[in-house]
Amino acid sequence: MYTQAMDTAPQEARKPVRSAEEARLEERFEARIDEGGFVEAKDWMPEHYRKTLVRQISQHAHSEIVGMLPEGNWVTRAPTLKRKAILLAKIQDEGGHGLYLYAAAETLGVSRDEMLEALHSGRAKYSSIFNYPTLTWADVGVIGWLVDGAAIMNQVPLCRCSYAPYARAMIRICREESFHQRQGYDALLVMMQKGTDAQRAMVQDAVNRWWWPSLMMFGPHDSDSVHSAQSMRWGIKRISNDDLRQKFVDATVEQAKVLGVTLPDPDIRWNEERQHYDFGRIDWDEFWRVVGGEGPCNRERMAARVKAWEEGAWVREAALAYARKREAAREAA
Ligand code: 3HC
Repeated sequence: MYTQAMDTAPQEARKPVRSAEEARLEERFEARIDEGGFVEAKDWMPEHYRKTLVRQISQHAHSEIVGMLPEGNWVTRAPTLKRKAILLAKIQDEGGHGLYLYAAAETLGVSRDEMLEALHSGRAKYSSIFNYPTLTWADVGVIGWLVDGAAIMNQVPLCRCSYAPYARAMIRICREESFHQRQGYDALLVMMQKGTDAQRAMVQDAVNRWWWPSLMMFGPHDSDSVHSAQSMRWGIKRISNDDLRQKFVDATVEQAKVLGVTLPDPDIRWNEERQHYDFGRIDWDEFWRVVGGEGPCNRERMAARVKAWEEGAWVREAALAYARKREAAREAA
């Protein structure tokens, strides 16, 4: 399977000979990163740093846009007008997150069309979590609690990413993600504390289905991560996949107790020595199968995205024609 990693993996064999000037620029770049400095779009940066950011930011944006689909499935079936309004606001936020992130990626010289062509062709990824179905209303609450909860864990450190346009986009995104997680947890509390036995069973079923895919959102183990070492060296990734996953488990186990649900992992137990919760083994075969396009909803999600792109062509053409007309009028004035 082609991965964008092939674009950004260090090509030692084919690495072009660096001029003395480039060596000096790279030295200055590394020193700035080591001092905890930030890089702006206009600053010199190594090509591999730029490509790594294009890969990560564009895939992050894809995740936001594809992530609108599972919850969109429940807008017309929300149990109350209040829940419908909250869900609509959340989905709209996700679209905005995609916009900020595509805009941040464009500062690195890649076009929106290129990024979306990479998504539609399967060359670019989006988070595996969005390839699972939303079978009941409880899924909407569990997505808010677990998926947005995991997203917050993973995204807060990105507010200190060394690439400044990405870090700035993340500050606003994280503020909105907190609302996403709270509304999900609140919906589940209502079902668990004021609902019927059937609704409580619905919540437990959703937790059983979303728990392990949520842990997979943090990526492979650090020892299996192809990008982590370099991304941490460059201050793109501030905390490792496994450390963020552990932080998420430690917080969520306590929240599950308040909610009154059982997490589907018999190996979860407090480890006094580690001062963390131990948890069971993740099914990495499932992870790579879903990442590779064989998840329950991969085809459906991609078909929906390609259909929206094709049906939206006239809007893009009209907006671009209008912008060209305005530009021509400005130049003629
Ligand atoms: N789903 C799909 N692909 C994944 C993945 C996942 N959960 N986790 C890792 N991968 C892919 C990586 O993209 C990489 O493939 P590539 O070379 O083709 O890009 C490969 O697996 C190896 O993984 P690494 O850990 O080495 O890759 P990274 O260093 O890029 O780490 C990451 C992966 C932690 C997801 C990192 O890219 C990251 O922090 N991205 C920004 C945050 C993000 O994208 N979060 C996704 C969810 S967004 C969201 O949830 C929206 C919210 O509103 C709900």
